[in-house]
Amino acid sequence: MPSSPKSLPRRRPARPRRRAGLLSLALCVAGPAACGSDTDPACDRSYLRYENFGAPFLVSWCRPCHSAQLPPDLRQDAPLDVNFDTVEDARSWAHRIVLTTGSGGTMPPAGGPSDDERALLVEWLRCGGP
Ligand code: HEC
Repeated sequence: MPSSPKSLPRRRPARPRRRAGLLSLALCVAGPAACGSDTDPACDRSYLRYENFGAPFLVSWCRPCHSAQLPPDLRQDAPLDVNFDTVEDARSWAHRIVLTTGSGGTMPPAGGPSDDERALLVEWLRCGGP
């Protein structure tokens, strides 16, 4: 082999507790199944639920374009397969929703939710969208 990995600088090992927190956060972004309340103590304190937060948020800001109930020509070009009609939809799209609608996100296209509301959406989904 021409180049040896031995010449690369070694990374300092992260402190274990910190690392566990970052790891669970990374898993949460990768998929909500990894974000159950038993992996992140902050989720035990979160009052956010589909009924009191997720549904109203999605109804106000997302379903005007992302609903299977809409006739296709009223979707304003939202992809036909991207719908947030149920809590299961929201959970299965959690990763893309966090990326598109978290702080500085591109959804909804004309803006709307405040940074605080966006942060709550991320918290709700990070906790598994209960
Ligand atoms: C005015 C209509 C409209 C609204 C409201 C809207 N979207 Fe979209 N959405 C679009 C369009 C158009 C596209 C396809 C173009 C694109 O990806 O930017 C899209 C694409 C997406 C995608 C797929 C692309 C990707 O990057 O994964 C996701 C996820 C998404 N939107 C999430 C949301 C969420 C969450 C909301 C509510 C906070 C929302 N959208 C509100 C029109 C809308």
